[in-house]
Amino acid sequence: MVEHIKQYTKTKWLGVNIVYEECVDSTNTRAKKIGSENVMKEAVVVAKNQTAGRGRRGRNWISPEGNCYFSIMMKPNIQVENASTITLVAALALTQTIENVTGLKAQIKWPNDVVVDGKKVSGILTESSVGVDGLKYVVVGVGVNANQKQFDVEIKSMATSITLQTGREVDCAQVIGEFLNCFEKLFEVFLETEDMTALIDRYNSLL
Ligand code: BTN
Repeated sequence: MVEHIKQYTKTKWLGVNIVYEECVDSTNTRAKKIGSENVMKEAVVVAKNQTAGRGRRGRNWISPEGNCYFSIMMKPNIQVENASTITLVAALALTQTIENVTGLKAQIKWPNDVVVDGKKVSGILTESSVGVDGLKYVVVGVGVNANQKQFDVEIKSMATSITLQTGREVDCAQVIGEFLNCFEKLFEVFLETEDMTALIDRYNSLL
């Protein structure tokens, strides 16, 4: 899987440490552990299955096999108060990724849900750890409804997947590889000012 993802990435730094797990509780939890261990400056944790995927506001993220689950751990040298903006950068990267990989027009439901045809196709959970010296690490976790063919009746009207939208299966390695490409470029723009100055027009046009 790692080589398969690397086949689709041309990143300068982000795609170097890719950790693949068949099954984890949550790629965010695993990435946070790597962040706290002080061995890697960046890492991307990818899993085929999650047994305890987490969503925003303490919700669960049900994680059936066939969808994409990954988390980026980074240690950027930025002010603590600017770390939460990274989630907007990730949302922007995800719309580009979906468009580049599938041709679908993806939009953003503020602040960071990515929707296709008005239905949620992907969610982002950004978490950070702060110490006395400032930001220790940031974890950006992404779940993409890739190959899911059915949704529970309660969420059916609000959720969709790439396969339901295109009628085709999508390769998660390609989605993740392309996300790393898009995110790395946008993140470098973000780092120049530590805010959305140079990205806000693009972000707003997708809302
Ligand atoms: C949301 O509530 O919309 C955010 C969902 C984020 C889910 C992803 S799946 C990969 C990563 N690991 C987790 O436990 N959560 C995020």
